[in-house]
Amino acid sequence: MKSASHVDAPMNYLDIDSIQEKPAYYLYTPPTGVPQRNTKQIKHTVAIQNAREHIDEISLDKQGITFTQHETAVKNFYDAEEVKAVYYPEVVELVQKITGAEKVHVFDHNVRCAPMCERGENGVREPVKFAHNDYTIKSGPQRVRDLLPEEEAEERLKHRFAVINVWRPIQGPVQDTPLAVCDADSMTQDDFNETDLKYEDRTGEVYSVSHNPNHRWLYFPNMEREEAMLLKCYDSATDGRARFTAHSAFADPMSPPDAPARESIETRTLVFFPPEA
Ligand code: OGA
Ligand code: FE
Repeated sequence: MKSASHVDAPMNYLDIDSIQEKPAYYLYTPPTGVPQRNTKQIKHTVAIQNAREHIDEISLDKQGITFTQHETAVKNFYDAEEVKAVYYPEVVELVQKITGAEKVHVFDHNVRCAPMCERGENGVREPVKFAHNDYTIKSGPQRVRDLLPEEEAEERLKHRFAVINVWRPIQGPVQDTPLAVCDADSMTQDDFNETDLKYEDRTGEVYSVSHNPNHRWLYFPNMEREEAMLLKCYDSATDGRARFTAHSAFADPMSPPDAPARESIETRTLVFFPPEA
């Protein structure tokens, strides 16, 4: 299977010239007259490095990314009950081992496969071809308040915590539409644009990412089912550690035209560190 030191591919960014008011994306049909998205995207061709060649210099603290071998006993990732019963505890153990966290809470997952999504198969979504980060300075702590009992949430929020996504293929090797991640060390806070994410019952906040020529994109070509990527989407630390990163699916020019559609699962975790960390 072919892979190169880097590929050049178009990346969809938020077009900052199109911002009139706070960016907002609707995940359902918006009220009459309200657009699904009130901003435009802009394509920039970027170099995406083969992260397998940089594995020793990539860390959660600096780049906001890490990569690991990870066996799973899950048979069917499309079975949400099996994922919750079998995969969530595996993810808790993995994230705890990698981060040294005191407590890890898995709170959500998504399965993605474009043709299954198109056929309307239960809960399956398509890859996201847009540079974004799942949480913001505001919505990171908000998730903790939403998900934990009030007293515990306030106690936990006094200490360092993070939101980490665990991303893996359901079927390997991933050749079609892999996920690229931007090295947090190559980004500035100005690249992150607060964006409302409108669900029918609540509004979340994510970052839409705008272009900056310094961005260093990375991906792991041909990811296998026994390989997982950890992406830091929030860190409360303000000591120079990576707090956010960005990610996006992209069309890999190395992907053979007959490559099977990408199938992946991402699990979202709240990661609570011991008081001194
Ligand atoms: C994520 C994400 C998109 C994709 O894992 O948070 O945005 O295409 N994934 O896998
Ligand atoms: Fe995401």
